[in-house]
Amino acid sequence: MRAMVCDDFGGPDRFDEREVERPPLGPNSVLVRLTHAGVNPGDSRIRQGQFAPRARHHFPLVLGLEGAGFVEEIGVSGSPFKPGQAVFGFFLHDYAGDGTYAELAPARSTQLAAVPPGVSLRDAAAVACAGGTAMVLVEELLEVQPGDTVVVLGAAGGVGHFAVQVAVALGAEVIAVARASNHDFVRELGAAHAVDYRTDNVAEAVARLVPDGVDAAVDTVGGEAQSQLSGVVRQGGRVASCVHAPTTDDFRVRDQHFQYRFFEATPARMVRLSEHLASGHVRPRITRELPLSQAAEAHRAIDAGAVRGKIVLRIDDSR
Ligand SMILES: NC(=O)c1ccc[n+]([C@@H]2O[C@H](COP(=O)([O-])OP(=O)(O)OC[C@H]3O[C@@H](n4cnc5c(N)ncnc54)[C@H](OP(=O)(O)O)[C@@H]3O)[C@@H](O)[C@H]2O)c1
Repeated sequence: MRAMVCDDFGGPDRFDEREVERPPLGPNSVLVRLTHAGVNPGDSRIRQGQFAPRARHHFPLVLGLEGAGFVEEIGVSGSPFKPGQAVFGFFLHDYAGDGTYAELAPARSTQLAAVPPGVSLRDAAAVACAGGTAMVLVEELLEVQPGDTVVVLGAAGGVGHFAVQVAVALGAEVIAVARASNHDFVRELGAAHAVDYRTDNVAEAVARLVPDGVDAAVDTVGGEAQSQLSGVVRQGGRVASCVHAPTTDDFRVRDQHFQYRFFEATPARMVRLSEHLASGHVRPRITRELPLSQAAEAHRAIDAGAVRGKIVLRIDDSR
């Protein structure tokens, strides 16, 4: 099969497009013939070798945590999916190297869902990782309710632009934190207000809008931006991060409930994600679509850290 592979860890220049062997198919897995793959910062971290101390890596390394396509083959234990069915999902294994930057990739059946009618494979390919993460942060960890005020850090990015949409769908008033050139974008997603973290002090700007502090905040940025959220959220409020656990005591001191979570795809979450896609509550904004052969260009954009919405790699859109 054709794939973009890396023979060792390093920069985006490591990608090489070539024919490689079909990936192995586990008993509870299905092999998916991909039409599109979503690109995530996690792919870049794997490319750089950041997970090498924690997980096995199979070389040549095929990156890619999410994608969509058609079921090609089913593992020996069976699957709720049928050959030829259009599916999307999360392609995470207990090792790295059989990802979605290829014509074929294996996925555990529990991490896939059927592509809802009316949703394109291109859109479905870009939703599992960042969209699933945003859904867990907003719905499960923050338990956002109608009327809540919610700050989203990194609101124009992959996870952030989904988090804005999920919170708005739940009836929250969203304050999006993003660079000024992304403010029209986040308002179009449904944010009521936008704050520019590059020219404004975020805590002061939010206090002008909600003097007692917001009910909840989503962190997709980490570092100092995360620490400042303690001054943005009200006493007793909630914070959820997909980047790292808190590095300051301030959240505990202000009686704020902070949760950090690594996303795991479960059948229930995949069903909910496909319901959000089907209802139109969540729609990935794909701002760049590149052929698979330009994976290096996609990674240069991800590494620069200013992606708006999602980048998708086109593998085969002939069907
Ligand atoms: N825990 C998990 O399971 C999980 C899952 C998915 C992602 N993640 C992690 O979550 C993070 C975000 O992922 P992503 O896909 O959303 O990345 P992304 O698409 O690259 O988005 C990053 C966003 O961060 C914004 N940003 C940078 N510095 C900022 C600051 N100081 N204040 C506010 N916004 C700032 C940028 O906004 P502007 O362009 O407006 O400047 C950009 O839109 C990554 O670290 C990723 O590894 C974790």
